[in-house]
Amino acid sequence: MTAQQPRRIVVGVAGGIAAYKACHLIRDLKENGDDVRVVPTPGALNFVGAATFEALSGHPVSTTVFDAVDEVQHVRVGQEADAVVIAPATADVIARLVAGRADDLLTATVLVATCPVVVVPAMHTEMWHNPATQDNVATLRRRGIIVMEPAHGRLTGKDTGPGRLPEPGQIAEVVRTALDGHALTHDWTGRKVLITAGGTQENLDPVRYLGNRSSGRQGFALAEIAAHRGAEVTIVAGNTDALPTPSGAEVVPVVSTAEMAQAVGERAADSDVIIMAAAVADFRPATAAGAKMKKGSDDDALTRLDLVENPDILATTVQRRRDGDIPAGTTIVGFAAETGDADHSALDFARAKLRRKGCDLLMCNEVGEGKVFGQTRNRGWLLDAAGPVTEIADGSKHSVAAQILAAVDRHRS
Ligand code: CTP
Repeated sequence: MTAQQPRRIVVGVAGGIAAYKACHLIRDLKENGDDVRVVPTPGALNFVGAATFEALSGHPVSTTVFDAVDEVQHVRVGQEADAVVIAPATADVIARLVAGRADDLLTATVLVATCPVVVVPAMHTEMWHNPATQDNVATLRRRGIIVMEPAHGRLTGKDTGPGRLPEPGQIAEVVRTALDGHALTHDWTGRKVLITAGGTQENLDPVRYLGNRSSGRQGFALAEIAAHRGAEVTIVAGNTDALPTPSGAEVVPVVSTAEMAQAVGERAADSDVIIMAAAVADFRPATAAGAKMKKGSDDDALTRLDLVENPDILATTVQRRRDGDIPAGTTIVGFAAETGDADHSALDFARAKLRRKGCDLLMCNEVGEGKVFGQTRNRGWLLDAAGPVTEIADGSKHSVAAQILAAVDRHRS
């Protein structure tokens, strides 16, 4: 979806091997209709040539404050930016930002910028864990700079651990969420967040299942935004569109509703916020065949399905809180995918569902005819059991996620 007005995004690139991934980030931001200006450090040009950045961005590239002096470039680039993102940000560039240095065009630009600044660290695990880097990151966050958590995985050599650059698509979503004006402050530290995502699948036999079209995108977007706000996030994930694991979150894969119910049951009492974004199969086959069912066989298993009802994970969780088994202060958020009918709007059904489920907040999406499932955007209403209904305008699933977390803040305050 193209933004109405191109926003000016400065992509800073520091001198690390992940610099090549900045090319995909630039492309993603440009394809969304935004104007991208690349400001590499001199070190970054050891990894990717200026010609590549110029071709991708459509703008000349310079690294020093002594280029285009007549246009006062060292100040103008930061002043005109709507957002600055540095990906990758090395330990060195992070330290220089903390010190307020302005000895190259990138650090000078950040020093001038009053717009959102997103820093995306990428470095070896030891450098990331070093107290110098951790203190520097804490300082930047305290100053209002958004510092993403690095991803966990394979690094340049044979080592594995936190320090990988998150996927360019994930970075682009964070930049756009910040550009849309949503708070990504690091104020959920120490908060445990449990999220269900994706669709559950109920086996009919070893090759067939009953399932639904959920992609898991909204649940994963919630996890990403909660993790950026500093929360400890666990996603209990059914079937999803092979989405990358959000940096700073743990994924617990499940298949059936029973497995999802068990995984949530084990973790719910230890969570501060529980968000059930999964599309849960309400029924499962009464029996699942151990061997593949055959078309020509005598039994009628393939022409008639006997179904039994699955547990309602959301309602069970609310009941456990009423019973005192889950702390009273735990916030529980449900989702409702609704279509209206001749007599009721989707919102009418959502109000009834909020009462029936007994959760604190309910995000209602209108579904059907290409809406929501598998799409990158979402809209609807956010209902608070305490009364207010907030209309959620059409936006990315990350932007909707940021608004849901803001509603959780309001509900808890
Ligand atoms: N949910 C759940 N367990 C179920 C069914 C739903 O936890 N067995 C949760 C979903 O994750 C969502 C909310 O309940 O947060 C509402 O899901 P939905 O399918 O809309 O609700 P249902 O109770 O199944 O209502 P409907 O009859 O409209 O399908």
